[in-house]
Amino acid sequence: RTMDVAGIKRAVGRAAVDNLVESGMKLGLGTGSTAVEAVYRLGELLRAGTLRDIRAVPTSFQTVVACQKEGISLWTLNDPIIDASLDLTIDGADEVDPQWRLIKGGGAAMLIEKIVAHASRAYCIIADDSKIVGRLGEKAPVPVEVVSEALTTASRGLEALGGTVELRMAVRKDGPVITDHGGFVLDVRFAQPFDPPRMEREIMAIPGVTANGIFTHPVTDLIVGAPDGTTEHRRRP
Ligand code: A5P
Repeated sequence: RTMDVAGIKRAVGRAAVDNLVESGMKLGLGTGSTAVEAVYRLGELLRAGTLRDIRAVPTSFQTVVACQKEGISLWTLNDPIIDASLDLTIDGADEVDPQWRLIKGGGAAMLIEKIVAHASRAYCIIADDSKIVGRLGEKAPVPVEVVSEALTTASRGLEALGGTVELRMAVRKDGPVITDHGGFVLDVRFAQPFDPPRMEREIMAIPGVTANGIFTHPVTDLIVGAPDGTTEHRRRP
Protein backbone atom coordinates (compact mmCIF):
# COMPACT_ATOMS: atom_id res chain seq x y z
CA ARG A 1 0.00 0.00 0.00
CA THR A 2 1.22 3.50 -0.63
CA MET A 3 0.57 6.38 1.75
CA ASP A 4 0.60 9.97 0.49
CA VAL A 5 2.93 12.47 2.09
CA ALA A 6 0.14 14.04 4.19
CA GLY A 7 -0.63 10.59 5.62
CA ILE A 8 3.05 10.00 6.42
CA LYS A 9 3.25 13.35 8.25
CA ARG A 10 0.16 12.44 10.27
CA ALA A 11 1.66 9.05 11.15
CA VAL A 12 4.99 10.42 12.40
CA GLY A 13 3.33 13.29 14.29
CA ARG A 14 1.10 10.80 16.03
CA ALA A 15 3.95 8.38 16.76
CA ALA A 16 6.04 11.11 18.39
CA VAL A 17 3.25 12.10 20.79
CA ASP A 18 2.13 8.52 21.50
CA ASN A 19 5.67 7.21 22.11
CA LEU A 20 7.28 10.11 23.95
CA VAL A 21 4.84 12.53 25.59
CA GLU A 22 3.85 11.92 29.21
CA SER A 23 1.50 13.86 31.49
CA GLY A 24 3.17 16.70 33.36
CA MET A 25 5.81 17.33 30.69
CA LYS A 26 7.16 20.69 29.63
CA LEU A 27 7.00 20.36 25.86
CA GLY A 28 8.45 22.36 22.93
CA LEU A 29 6.26 22.35 19.82
CA GLY A 30 7.84 22.83 16.40
CA THR A 31 6.64 24.45 13.20
CA GLY A 32 5.64 23.15 9.78
CA SER A 33 3.21 20.76 8.18
CA THR A 34 4.70 17.75 10.01
CA ALA A 35 5.09 19.27 13.49
CA VAL A 36 1.50 20.55 13.38
CA GLU A 37 0.34 16.91 13.18
CA ALA A 38 1.92 16.37 16.60
CA VAL A 39 0.01 19.42 17.85
CA TYR A 40 -3.28 17.92 16.59
CA ARG A 41 -2.53 14.58 18.25
CA LEU A 42 -1.63 16.32 21.50
CA GLY A 43 -4.93 18.23 21.42
CA GLU A 44 -6.79 14.96 20.84
CA LEU A 45 -5.13 13.18 23.79
CA LEU A 46 -5.62 16.17 26.11
CA ARG A 47 -9.34 16.32 25.25
CA ALA A 48 -9.64 12.56 25.79
CA GLY A 49 -7.96 12.94 29.19
CA THR A 50 -5.23 10.48 28.21
CA LEU A 51 -2.71 13.28 28.77
CA ARG A 52 -2.90 16.13 31.28
CA ASP A 53 -0.84 18.99 32.73
CA ILE A 54 1.16 19.58 29.58
CA ARG A 55 2.98 22.91 29.56
CA ALA A 56 3.68 23.70 25.90
CA VAL A 57 6.07 26.26 24.40
CA PRO A 58 5.40 27.15 20.73
CA THR A 59 8.03 28.01 18.10
CA SER A 60 6.05 30.25 15.74
CA PHE A 61 2.78 32.07 15.08
CA GLN A 62 1.72 28.95 13.15
CA THR A 63 2.15 26.82 16.26
CA VAL A 64 0.43 29.41 18.47
CA VAL A 65 -2.62 29.50 16.20
CA ALA A 66 -2.77 25.69 15.95
CA CYS A 67 -2.47 25.31 19.75
CA GLN A 68 -5.17 27.89 20.37
CA LYS A 69 -7.52 25.98 18.06
CA GLU A 70 -6.70 22.77 19.92
CA GLY A 71 -7.19 24.40 23.32
CA ILE A 72 -3.57 23.75 24.32
CA SER A 73 -2.38 26.34 26.85
CA LEU A 74 0.89 28.02 26.03
CA TRP A 75 3.90 29.27 27.93
CA THR A 76 7.21 30.87 27.02
CA LEU A 77 10.73 29.80 27.96
CA ASN A 78 10.86 32.85 30.21
CA ASP A 79 7.93 31.86 32.40
CA PRO A 80 9.23 30.74 35.80
CA ILE A 81 7.08 27.60 35.54
CA ILE A 82 9.11 26.62 32.45
CA ASP A 83 12.41 28.06 33.71
CA ALA A 84 14.02 27.75 30.22
CA SER A 85 14.05 23.99 30.44
CA LEU A 86 11.89 21.55 28.49
CA ASP A 87 11.59 17.79 28.85
CA LEU A 88 11.05 17.24 25.14
CA THR A 89 10.67 19.14 21.85
CA ILE A 90 9.02 17.64 18.77
CA ASP A 91 9.80 19.31 15.43
CA GLY A 92 10.09 18.65 11.71
CA ALA A 93 13.07 19.25 9.42
CA ASP A 94 13.84 19.94 5.78
CA GLU A 95 16.90 17.65 5.70
CA VAL A 96 18.44 15.11 8.09
CA ASP A 97 22.01 13.91 7.50
CA PRO A 98 23.52 10.55 8.59
CA GLN A 99 24.69 12.13 11.87
CA TRP A 100 21.20 13.58 12.45
CA ARG A 101 22.26 17.13 11.81
CA LEU A 102 19.50 19.18 10.23
CA ILE A 103 18.49 21.88 7.83
CA LYS A 104 15.41 23.68 9.10
CA GLY A 105 13.67 26.92 8.30
CA GLY A 106 11.67 26.00 5.20
CA GLY A 107 8.85 27.73 7.06
CA ALA A 108 11.13 30.56 8.24
CA ALA A 109 10.73 29.62 11.92
CA MET A 110 14.33 28.60 12.69
CA LEU A 111 15.13 31.41 15.13
CA ILE A 112 12.76 30.28 17.88
CA GLU A 113 12.98 26.62 16.83
CA LYS A 114 16.69 26.66 17.63
CA ILE A 115 16.26 28.45 20.97
CA VAL A 116 13.60 25.93 21.99
CA ALA A 117 15.71 22.97 20.77
CA HIS A 118 18.67 24.11 22.87
CA ALA A 119 16.42 24.36 25.95
CA SER A 120 15.22 20.75 25.55
CA ARG A 121 16.57 17.62 27.18
CA ALA A 122 15.08 15.30 24.54
CA TYR A 123 14.79 16.49 20.93
CA CYS A 124 12.62 14.45 18.59
CA ILE A 125 12.62 15.05 14.84
CA ILE A 126 9.75 13.72 12.76
CA ALA A 127 10.02 13.46 8.98
CA ASP A 128 8.96 11.60 5.89
CA ASP A 129 11.80 9.66 4.30
CA SER A 130 12.27 12.20 1.48
CA LYS A 131 14.01 14.41 4.07
CA ILE A 132 16.82 11.92 4.70
CA VAL A 133 19.96 12.96 2.80
CA GLY A 134 23.59 11.89 2.46
CA ARG A 135 24.80 15.40 3.28
CA LEU A 136 23.17 18.70 4.22
CA GLY A 137 22.45 21.02 1.33
CA GLU A 138 21.85 18.16 -1.08
CA LYS A 139 18.30 19.32 -1.83
CA ALA A 140 17.41 22.19 0.48
CA PRO A 141 19.02 25.62 0.67
CA VAL A 142 20.20 26.88 4.06
CA PRO A 143 17.76 29.55 5.27
CA VAL A 144 19.39 32.53 6.95
CA GLU A 145 17.39 35.21 8.75
CA VAL A 146 18.78 38.76 8.66
CA VAL A 147 17.63 42.14 9.87
CA SER A 148 16.55 44.17 6.84
CA GLU A 149 19.42 46.65 7.17
CA ALA A 150 21.89 43.80 6.59
CA LEU A 151 20.33 42.53 3.36
CA THR A 152 23.25 43.50 1.13
CA THR A 153 26.15 43.15 3.56
CA ALA A 154 24.99 39.75 4.80
CA SER A 155 24.37 38.56 1.23
CA ARG A 156 28.00 39.45 0.39
CA GLY A 157 29.20 37.68 3.53
CA LEU A 158 27.27 34.54 2.57
CA GLU A 159 28.68 34.70 -0.97
CA ALA A 160 32.16 34.91 0.54
CA LEU A 161 31.38 31.57 2.27
CA GLY A 162 30.67 30.06 -1.16
CA GLY A 163 26.91 30.51 -1.22
CA THR A 164 24.46 31.62 -3.88
CA VAL A 165 21.93 33.83 -2.18
CA GLU A 166 18.26 34.34 -2.92
CA LEU A 167 15.95 36.65 -0.99
CA ARG A 168 12.83 34.64 -0.12
CA MET A 169 9.74 36.28 -1.60
CA ALA A 170 6.31 36.14 -0.02
CA VAL A 171 3.22 34.46 -1.46
CA ARG A 172 0.01 36.50 -1.36
CA LYS A 173 1.96 39.49 -0.02
CA ASP A 174 4.07 41.73 -2.26
CA GLY A 175 7.78 41.76 -1.51
CA PRO A 176 9.96 39.62 0.74
CA VAL A 177 8.88 37.16 3.42
CA ILE A 178 8.84 38.87 6.81
CA THR A 179 9.53 36.44 9.65
CA ASP A 180 7.62 36.28 12.95
CA HIS A 181 10.37 38.60 14.24
CA GLY A 182 10.39 41.08 11.38
CA GLY A 183 13.45 39.72 9.56
CA PHE A 184 14.14 38.79 5.92
CA VAL A 185 15.09 35.25 4.87
CA LEU A 186 18.00 34.51 2.54
CA ASP A 187 17.99 31.03 1.01
CA VAL A 188 21.60 30.03 0.46
CA ARG A 189 22.77 27.22 -1.80
CA PHE A 190 26.30 25.88 -1.47
CA ALA A 191 27.83 24.18 -4.52
CA GLN A 192 30.46 22.48 -2.34
CA PRO A 193 29.81 20.15 0.61
CA PHE A 194 30.31 21.92 3.94
CA ASP A 195 31.05 21.01 7.53
CA PRO A 196 27.73 21.72 9.33
CA PRO A 197 28.98 22.96 12.77
CA ARG A 198 31.65 25.10 11.15
CA MET A 199 29.24 26.61 8.60
CA GLU A 200 26.67 27.24 11.35
CA ARG A 201 29.31 29.24 13.29
CA GLU A 202 30.61 31.11 10.24
CA ILE A 203 27.15 32.20 9.15
CA MET A 204 26.35 33.43 12.66
CA ALA A 205 29.54 35.55 12.66
CA ILE A 206 28.14 37.74 9.84
CA PRO A 207 26.76 40.98 11.33
CA GLY A 208 22.99 41.26 11.04
CA VAL A 209 22.34 37.51 10.90
CA THR A 210 19.79 36.55 13.55
CA ALA A 211 19.34 32.85 12.73
CA ASN A 212 20.40 30.10 10.37
CA GLY A 213 18.83 26.79 9.47
CA ILE A 214 21.79 24.50 10.21
CA PHE A 215 20.96 22.64 13.43
CA THR A 216 23.67 20.66 15.19
CA HIS A 217 21.98 20.37 18.60
CA PRO A 218 21.85 16.62 19.35
CA VAL A 219 18.69 14.90 18.15
CA THR A 220 17.75 12.15 20.62
CA ASP A 221 14.88 10.57 18.67
CA LEU A 222 14.33 10.38 14.93
CA ILE A 223 10.97 9.15 13.66
CA VAL A 224 10.87 8.55 9.91
CA GLY A 225 7.80 7.60 7.93
CA ALA A 226 7.77 5.80 4.59
CA PRO A 227 5.19 5.56 1.78
CA ASP A 228 4.53 1.91 2.68
CA GLY A 229 2.85 3.21 5.85
CA THR A 230 5.61 2.20 8.29
CA THR A 231 7.22 4.53 10.82
CA GLU A 232 10.62 3.81 12.26
CA HIS A 233 11.57 5.27 15.65
CA ARG A 234 15.34 5.42 16.15
CA ARG A 235 16.94 6.59 19.40
CA ARG A 236 20.41 8.07 19.70
CA PRO A 237 22.57 5.19 20.85
C1 A5P B 1 9.99 25.67 9.90
O1 A5P B 1 10.70 26.83 9.70
C2 A5P B 1 10.86 24.51 9.62
O2 A5P B 1 12.02 24.43 10.35
C3 A5P B 1 10.11 23.22 9.57
O3 A5P B 1 10.32 22.46 10.72
C4 A5P B 1 10.62 22.49 8.39
O4 A5P B 1 10.62 23.40 7.33
C5 A5P B 1 9.78 21.27 8.06
O5 A5P B 1 8.53 21.65 7.58
P1 A5P B 1 7.52 20.62 6.95
O6 A5P B 1 7.21 19.63 8.02
O7 A5P B 1 6.34 21.44 6.55
O8 A5P B 1 8.22 19.99 5.79
